[in-house]
Amino acid sequence: MADPTLNGKNALVTGAANGIGFAIARLLAERGARVVLNDVDLDAARAAAASIGPRHLAIQADVANEDEVGRMVDEAATVFGGVDILVNNAGVGDGAVPTLAQSLAVFERTLAIHVNGTFLVSKAVAARMAQNGGGSIVNLGSIAGQVGVPVRTAYSVAKAGVAMMTRVLACEWAGLGIRVNAVAPGYVRTRLVAKLIADGRLDPARIRARTPLGRMAEPEEIARVVAFLASHEASYVTGAVVPVDGGYAAFGGPFDASGEFSPYDHGKAPESSESRLSAEGAPRPVATDGQRA
Ligand SMILES: NC(=O)c1ccc[n+]([C@@H]2O[C@H](COP(=O)([O-])OP(=O)(O)OC[C@H]3O[C@@H](n4cnc5c(N)ncnc54)[C@H](O)[C@@H]3O)[C@@H](O)[C@H]2O)c1
Repeated sequence: MADPTLNGKNALVTGAANGIGFAIARLLAERGARVVLNDVDLDAARAAAASIGPRHLAIQADVANEDEVGRMVDEAATVFGGVDILVNNAGVGDGAVPTLAQSLAVFERTLAIHVNGTFLVSKAVAARMAQNGGGSIVNLGSIAGQVGVPVRTAYSVAKAGVAMMTRVLACEWAGLGIRVNAVAPGYVRTRLVAKLIADGRLDPARIRARTPLGRMAEPEEIARVVAFLASHEASYVTGAVVPVDGGYAAFGGPFDASGEFSPYDHGKAPESSESRLSAEGAPRPVATDGQRA
C-alpha cells in the first residue's frame, strides 16, 4: 500500500539482493518509492529488482570501493534525478572466529565493508541530498554493536562504528536537512545467520532462550522500522540507534530471558513457577551446560 510520506521518493538500498536489504527494498517499493538495489552480486540484484516491479534498478558496486561507490551514486542520481533515501545495509559476517585465531585480513575486510562502506556511500549520497534540500539515511547496526558478543570482535567493532557514525553524521548534517538514524537488529532469519547456524557457530535454541520475545526476527520486521525511520513519519528523529531485537539488548537478568530456563512461566501452574524460585525469590542458578544446577 502506498505511503504518502514515501510515495514518489527515490531510494538507494545497498546489499539489497538478499535478506534484510531485499525486504527493505521490497517494502519501500510497495509503499511507492522507486528503488536502486545495489549489491556486489549483479545477477542477484537484477533478479531482486525485477521481482519487485519494472520501475526499479540494479547497480553493481562494492560499497568498500570508493570509485565503484562514486559511479553507483552518479548513475542512481542520473537515472532517478536524485536520491531521497539511503539505506546502508550491505554487510558480511566475520566468521565468528575466536579473536586469538582471527586474521587481520578478515578483521580489516569486515570493517571496510561496514564502516568504510557506510562512510563512502553516505558521503557520496549526502552531497546530492544537500543540493536537493535534504533526505534520510538509515544504517544497519546490530545488537553486536551495543553489547559485547564474544568471537564477533570484527563484526561488533564494525557495528559499534556504524552506531557512532550515525550519531556524528546526524549532528553534522542536520543543518543540511538530512536525518541519519540506525536500526540495531537482533538475530534475523537470513543467510548470514543461516551460515553461522550451519557451521555450528550459533545455536538457534540458545538465541530463543536469550531473547525476551523468544524467537528470531523475520527480515520484514526490520524493514518496517527502517521504512518508518526513512519516512516523514520520523521527521523529528535523528541520531537514534533503534533496537529491533525482541528485547535482547534490554535484558540483563542472570538467567535465560525466555523458554525452558526462564523463571517467568506465565500461564503455567503457580506451583511450577514457585518451585523455580529460591526461598529469597531469586531464580535458581543455571549450570554452565545450560541445565539447572
Ligand atoms: N541477519 C542478522 O541477524 C543481522 C542482525 C543484525 C544486523 N544485520 C545486518 O543487516 C545487514 C544485512 O544482513 P543480512 O543478514 O540480510 O545479510 P545477507 O548476507 O543475507 O545479505 C547481505 C547482502 O549484502 C551484499 N554485500 C556484501 N558485501 C557487499 C559489498 N561489499 N558491497 C555491496 N553489497 C555487499 C551481499 O551480496 C548480500 O546480498 C548487514 O549489515 C548485517 O550486518 C544482520
